[in-house]
Amino acid sequence: MLSCSWEGLRLPGCRKEPGNGTYEVFGPLPQGAPGNDASTLRALDAVPGRDAVRRVFDLGAGHGRTTVALARALPDARITAVEIHAPFVERIAERTRETGLADRVRAECGDMAKTDVAAGSIDLIWAEGSIYVVGVERALALWRPWLRPGGGGAFSDFVQWTGDLSKEARAFWAVEYPDMASEDAIRSRAEAAGYRVVSSSRMPKEAHDAYYVPLEARITELAGCADSDVRKVLDGIRREIDVVRRFSDEAGYSFFVLRRADGRTGAEGANGRPPA
Ligand SMILES: C[S@@+](CC[C@H](N)C(=O)[O-])C[C@H]1O[C@@H](n2cnc3c(N)ncnc32)[C@H](O)[C@@H]1O
Repeated sequence: MLSCSWEGLRLPGCRKEPGNGTYEVFGPLPQGAPGNDASTLRALDAVPGRDAVRRVFDLGAGHGRTTVALARALPDARITAVEIHAPFVERIAERTRETGLADRVRAECGDMAKTDVAAGSIDLIWAEGSIYVVGVERALALWRPWLRPGGGGAFSDFVQWTGDLSKEARAFWAVEYPDMASEDAIRSRAEAAGYRVVSSSRMPKEAHDAYYVPLEARITELAGCADSDVRKVLDGIRREIDVVRRFSDEAGYSFFVLRRADGRTGAEGANGRPPA
C-alpha cells in the first residue's frame, strides 16, 4: 500500500519536525540538492592545500552523500556533519558505519548557524545545497573566524546565470528564491567578506539530474497521497523541475570554492579581519 508519511527518529536537542510535508517527501531520497560525487570531488580538488585538510565541517549535510564522499577522498581528515533533522543525522551515522568511515565522522544534530566552534579550528567548511538556509553573506561572515588562516570553504547554490531571466522564470524565482544572485555578485560578496574566490563553476546537467531524477520518481510514488502538506510540497517541486528544465540556460546550481584571505603574511587584524 502506498504510504505518504515518513516517520523518523528524534534526537534530543533537535528542532521538532516542521510538519509541512518537506521531510516526508525528501526522507527516502538519496540526497537533498543537485550534485553528484564527481561534482563534489571536482570542487574538492580546487581547494588549496586539500591534502593538508584535517578538520572538516559538512553543514546541512542532509542524507550524508557529501559526508561520505568527503570522508573517502580525505583519508586523514575528521569530519563533523551538522544537520538539523534528526532522522537525517541518524542516516548519516548509518551511512558512515556501512562504509567503514564512522571512526572519522561525527554526525551532529544541530543548527549550522549556531554551532559552537573554536576560532581558527577548521580547515574546510562544506555546504552543498545548504548555504541558502543561512544566506550567503551571513554564512560567510559566520564561517570566517571558524577557519584557520588560509582555510577553505565550498558551497553550491542556485545562481542566476544570465543577465535577464525570461518572464516566466523571473516570476518563479522572485517567489521561490528572491535572494538568488549572479555568480559575479556572489564573488563580490565573498571578497567583501574576507575570502579569495578560488573557483566558481556551473554544475553540469548530470549533477542536476542526480537530484531531480529520483525526485521525479518520488513525485510519481506519492501521486495518490492525500496529505495537503505533502501535495503542496509536490506541486512546488513540479514547478521547480519544470522551470529549471525549460530555462536551463538561465539559472541553476553553481559551485564556489573559497579560501580565507589573510594577506600575504597570513597575519590577522585585531578584529579578525584581514589586514587592510
Ligand atoms: C537542500 S538540503 C541539502 C542536503 C545535502 N547537503 C545534500 O547536498 O544533499 C538542506 C539540508 O539542510 C538541513 N537544514 C536546514 N536548516 C538547517 C539548519 N539550520 N542547520 C543545519 N541543517 C539545516 C535540511 O534538513 C536539509 O537536510
